[in-house]
Amino acid sequence: MNRPHVICHMMTSLDGKIDGDYMNTEEAQSLYLKYVEIQESYNPKAWMCGRVTMEGNFAFGEKVEFKGGITLAVPRTDFIADAHAERYVIAVDPKGKLRWTQNTIPTSFQLKVESHIVVVITEAVADEYLTYLRDLGISYIFGGKDQLDLHEVLRKINTLLGVQEMMLDGGAYLNGTFLNEGLVDELSLLITPTADGDTSTQALFAKPDSLVKQPAARFTLREVRKLESNGIYLNYAINR
Ligand SMILES: NC(=O)c1ccc[n+]([C@@H]2O[C@H](COP(=O)([O-])OP(=O)(O)OC[C@H]3O[C@@H](n4cnc5c(N)ncnc54)[C@H](OP(=O)(O)O)[C@@H]3O)[C@@H](O)[C@H]2O)c1
Repeated sequence: MNRPHVICHMMTSLDGKIDGDYMNTEEAQSLYLKYVEIQESYNPKAWMCGRVTMEGNFAFGEKVEFKGGITLAVPRTDFIADAHAERYVIAVDPKGKLRWTQNTIPTSFQLKVESHIVVVITEAVADEYLTYLRDLGISYIFGGKDQLDLHEVLRKINTLLGVQEMMLDGGAYLNGTFLNEGLVDELSLLITPTADGDTSTQALFAKPDSLVKQPAARFTLREVRKLESNGIYLNYAINR
């Protein structure tokens, strides 16, 4: 397989939601530490999140506009600033909206190994944005002309970064696209003993409307573990 093994690692409420008020409960906060511990137990070479998660948690740069447009003066070739990082964080940001301040995400209570930032963009981003990423020493990979081809993205993550195993940490549309494209291999799921019935929040997988729906994915249960705070850990392999 010329792509990494993909483990979708997520935490949900009992009603299958990945976000919402339940995240502020004592149970969810305690189980979030377990979520981090399980993620670290994989010692992943790479972990991937969507643009919204990155914007909310890690990409706090000044919201400068890039007005230079697309002149193709900067070639649309992948740029790897650090080919030997111990760990990579892969930010899916097709339109180049994220504004960064540095080229790594430092260690914290939720990240045990500093992670070099790799952005997945499309060729439709402004030339100036590419220069901006290069100046910061941030790596970038082209995932398509104006739409992402996740098969190609995974192939590049494997060949350019040497990643054999990747954690996919959502959100819903990213997970849903991977699932729909047959690119999820394993599901690693913590369930918190909470529910809020909020219809405005996202569930574990959401297929973007632009994709043709594939038959429902089916999984084989490999592990069930009772956790503290009345949580459950489930591990599934996807059926091929
Ligand atoms: N409970 C958990 O375990 C958990 C874990 C991670 C995240 N979350 C939650 O999930 C929410 C959002 O997550 P997210 O930003 O990581 O991911 P997301 O909602 O799946 O995607 C957010 C953005 O990423 C880009 N994107 C994702 N998939 C794409 C695709 N297939 N093709 C093109 N663009 C794609 C798009 O950016 P543009 O809009 O710029 O085009 C999209 O709007 C957050 O509220 C976060 O708190 C929960």
